[in-house]
Amino acid sequence: MPALFVLAQVVLAAARRGAAAADPPGRVPAVIVFGDSTADTGNNNFIQTMARGNHPPYGRDFAGGVATGRFSNGRLPADFVSEALGLPRSVPAYLDPGHTIHHLATGVSFASAGAGLDNMTAQIPSAMTLSEQIDHFRRYRARLRRAKGQAAAHHIMSHALYIFSIGASDFLQNYLVFPARGYRYTLPEYEVYLVGVAEAALRAVHGLGARAFRVVGLPPLGCLPLERAMNLPRPTGECNEVYNVVARSFNSRLRGLVAKLNWELPGVRLAYVDQYGLMSAMIAKPWEYGFENSVQGCCGTGYVETGVLCSLDSALTCDNADKYVFFDAVHPSERAYKIIAGVILNATSTRRFP
Ligand SMILES: *[C@@H]1O[C@H](CO)[C@@H](O)[C@H](O)[C@H]1NC(C)=O
Ligand SMILES: *[C@@H]1O[C@H](CO)[C@@H](O)[C@H](O)[C@H]1NC(C)=O
Repeated sequence: MPALFVLAQVVLAAARRGAAAADPPGRVPAVIVFGDSTADTGNNNFIQTMARGNHPPYGRDFAGGVATGRFSNGRLPADFVSEALGLPRSVPAYLDPGHTIHHLATGVSFASAGAGLDNMTAQIPSAMTLSEQIDHFRRYRARLRRAKGQAAAHHIMSHALYIFSIGASDFLQNYLVFPARGYRYTLPEYEVYLVGVAEAALRAVHGLGARAFRVVGLPPLGCLPLERAMNLPRPTGECNEVYNVVARSFNSRLRGLVAKLNWELPGVRLAYVDQYGLMSAMIAKPWEYGFENSVQGCCGTGYVETGVLCSLDSALTCDNADKYVFFDAVHPSERAYKIIAGVILNATSTRRFP
């Protein structure tokens, strides 16, 4: 029966080719990121904005000591997540023209420092809004299909890990600072509005093929060094509890959204990441995590410097950022970010299969 034998050979060979073309089961082919300065790996270098971290001392512990635009002394959580999944050590920025679609196929960040869920937040520093980030994601998807073919692109989109790290700027840069939003919404109304925007964004990205999400909650906003420094009329360096209450309240709504979408969206696996709990613990007991200072940033005086104010000129900037939870007055150090990445990786979906 030589014909049948030949047929069997053909089928076997095809099966082998199929197996070789696909990733091993469970392997994540890409890390795809949306968000603010906690996730922007360099997009803001390519737009006209004030929110830039592409100057020293940012990046001084990055490979080659390069200030890539990341608001830290080294890598961000998404970079560590990518490396831990066997993907590149750093996640490229979508707007960086140095990256081809082939580089971007194993991970990409659409995040923009200064962006929020609210469009108005990004407009303050002229950052990319979340809806612009999702527009770029649509273009990325189309480019990936052209470059890799429908099937391979679909595999990447549906097996990638999607990280959302956004929302702090809506409060710190917008609502709690400028009265414009306060006239229109009470705080609880604003939280509901923002969670509604997050819902629409997650649904849109799911609709484009995403399945596995990590939704990072807000950190304890009132314990960021800048907020401690501005905590008047009690300038004792205490955490601003009003801001922490806002963060906890928003986070509990966000957690509710994650549970709801896990129920409603077909095939989705969303995990909420308790960044608040972890960072509170690092701030309260820094020594347990190997830090010496959780009150000031490493950069400058450590209380006010971020962005342009955090520059090389400062003789006060610390020598070893690994001893600090914060690198500047708002953003964690690389070592703190590495710990946060562990929690992002470990976060599990709350999806319950009926
Ligand atoms: C943000 O702006 C875009 C473009 O103008 C618009 O399509 C989108 O609906 C806006 N999103 C929100 C939440 O207002
Ligand atoms: C992640 O989970 C592993 C295994 O359960 C555990 O050993 C590790 O400490 C966890 N990491 C973090 C940062 O929670």
